[in-house]
Amino acid sequence: MVTSACPASRPNGVDLLDVEVFAESRDGDMFRRLRDEAPLFWNPGPGDENGFWSLTRYADIEAVAKDPDSFCNGEGTQIASRRAEGSGPRQIHNMDEPDHGPMRRLLTSTFSPRAVERLTERVEQVTTKLLDEALELGEFDFVKVVSSRLPLLVFAPLLGVPTEDADLLLRWTNESSSEDPEYSAGPETAAKAREELFAYYTDLTAQRRACPRDDVVSTLVQAEVNGAPLTQEWLNPYYMVLTVAGNETTRNLLSGSVNILSQRDLWPALRSGDHALLRSGIEEMVRWVSPVVHMRRTATTDVELHGQTVKAGEKVVLWFASANRDERVFAEPEEFRLDRKPNRHLGFGAGPHFCLGAHLARMETRVFYEQVLARDIHIELLGEPDRLQSNWFRGIKHLPVRVTQG
Ligand code: HEM
Repeated sequence: MVTSACPASRPNGVDLLDVEVFAESRDGDMFRRLRDEAPLFWNPGPGDENGFWSLTRYADIEAVAKDPDSFCNGEGTQIASRRAEGSGPRQIHNMDEPDHGPMRRLLTSTFSPRAVERLTERVEQVTTKLLDEALELGEFDFVKVVSSRLPLLVFAPLLGVPTEDADLLLRWTNESSSEDPEYSAGPETAAKAREELFAYYTDLTAQRRACPRDDVVSTLVQAEVNGAPLTQEWLNPYYMVLTVAGNETTRNLLSGSVNILSQRDLWPALRSGDHALLRSGIEEMVRWVSPVVHMRRTATTDVELHGQTVKAGEKVVLWFASANRDERVFAEPEEFRLDRKPNRHLGFGAGPHFCLGAHLARMETRVFYEQVLARDIHIELLGEPDRLQSNWFRGIKHLPVRVTQG
């Protein structure tokens, strides 16, 4: 494909591929400049093949996410990815119609508000156990002890993975979803993690086919799409996206929100508020942290945007993290306001690919904060967060804290 020879109108010094900018939390200033000066610009990649358009304003991002006819997911949703030759099974977020809708509908009832409410007790038990451990330790890495384990210990049994294998899911998630040197030695690490994950789930699928239980793997092995059961090559990418999405993002929401509440001394306000404040506070946490920094689409047809032509076949990156700080939509976006209303953030995306697990992520976060407040638990930072080097997930790898009660 030939990319458009559009002049690069990006402000000097801006490089959205520079993961250091994200690791050092300098992206806020960068995105503000882009929203003001270059709301659509062509970011050349290391080679022509990797160049991409960037959108940073809320209205543009929402419009593109809700227009799957003009902007598809099927050519890849990460900046560098390119659809492999030919068609074939992909992860659900990399699908378009006619595959996407039927595949997504297989699990919409599993993650519906009502189904998620039924998981509350399990989430409460896991949270109680983790907070007990935290109190016993006193000083520790919040990511290691709490925020990585909470979503994982809820999600593993929901999928059908025995709790004793949950750490495998954590490792495969870390190795396959970032290029941070702490987790990955490069693309080979990600490929190996993917292979191991596929082999593991292939075994689990065989077990559930023989003897179904009440879990996601059993639901998927019994499902039919267009009258036929799903083959292993359709199932594995589905397990993969669930494994990663089900724990990485919520982990980062918990760590990122504890970090900002502590940095801005907002715990007293949260404690003195009611349940409504916690609910609006959780939406503000998603807006603020924006655990998924961007997703990509590909233009299916020539589209005029901001006076320029995005040509069919060109990549268009939606910077959700920037949309969530857009001053055209959010009053004083750099303020973290527990009571922000309205708060129509794009932290869970928009349109047909809107996050499938949004209710679960919200419920897990709510239960965590409910218990912290009810048990009068105090969390204090003991150092700076060690951030993930990634422009895709906004992550914290380590967060040293002290936890006390009363
Ligand atoms: C898609 C965010 C938790 C499953 C997405 C998208 C975003 C997102 C931004 C892409 C939307 C788009 O491209 O327009 C988040 C955040 C989470 C979270 C911020 C936690 C704080 C979860 C959980 C699950 C999950 C717990 C578990 C089921 C998915 C799936 C998709 C998705 C399967 C693809 C949906 C599709 O393509 O139809 N999420 N997510 N996510 N998320 Fe989440």
